Amino acid sequence: MTSVQPEEIKARVAELRWHHSLNLGHGIITPGQDNSERKLGRLKMPTSLAGKSVLDIGAWDGFFSFDAERRGASRVLATDSYVWDGSHDWGSKRGFDLAKAALGSKVEDRVIDVLDLSPDKIGMFDVVLFLGVLYHMKHPLLALEHVASVTRGMIVLETAVDLLSTRQSAMAFYPGSDLGKDATNWCGPNPAAVVGMLQTVGFRRIEIVAGLRPWYFRYAKAARLKWRHGFQFWSMARTDRIVVHAWK
Ligand SMILES: C[S@@+](CC[C@H](N)C(=O)[O-])C[C@H]1O[C@@H](n2cnc3c(N)ncnc32)[C@H](O)[C@@H]1O
Repeated sequence: MTSVQPEEIKARVAELRWHHSLNLGHGIITPGQDNSERKLGRLKMPTSLAGKSVLDIGAWDGFFSFDAERRGASRVLATDSYVWDGSHDWGSKRGFDLAKAALGSKVEDRVIDVLDLSPDKIGMFDVVLFLGVLYHMKHPLLALEHVASVTRGMIVLETAVDLLSTRQSAMAFYPGSDLGKDATNWCGPNPAAVVGMLQTVGFRRIEIVAGLRPWYFRYAKAARLKWRHGFQFWSMARTDRIVVHAWK
């Protein structure tokens, strides 16, 4: 596949549904909906991951796995289950596989649910990326216990947050499709709840490295999403996203 010609890569890219915007070289950029470069800026990843093992949970098309490899990680394991099992209309693992081949990447991959992660099954990792996955968890604290069990050093957690006006730990519950018309969104912790859950599962030093944006940012985003996708304005305006670094 590494020897596949750019024209063929281009044709195969056009056949697939993409989440990430990946630069595959030869002027080929996958048409993902996600503003992956902007998210990457907010993550404040260590510039170098030389010698580190990295686990990317919920990797989808692999943007952040391939980025970790570029930062020098000695081993990267990308995992996913919902999209990669291929039975939902969100996409499939084919995008990841195509990007991996086109980039000549050595990132490893495994279809495994968050709740099946354990040191026995996949080992432990110096750096764990848990990006855009927590709010998809029906059992968020249990999910974080599994994530913590495979984290040797640091977790980079990016998540949607809700109930922003209270400083007490609180978590919204989304039965049905209450958040973003998406039935796979289950919970919206507020920043205090994210920190509290990380402490509960054994992280000691916790830093919010990208926090809440001003209200006018959220309102502009909500107006855009309502106009583009028909999302409920208020369900988007009252939520935001944060990035947390935490160490055991
Ligand atoms: C919003 S996407 C985030 C993708 C990527 N991490 C990012 O930040 O752009 C959520 C990802 O989590 C995966 N996911 C959802 N539930 C999962 C589960 N129970 N176990 C493993 N992956 C899951 C989905 O398949 C999807 O790839």
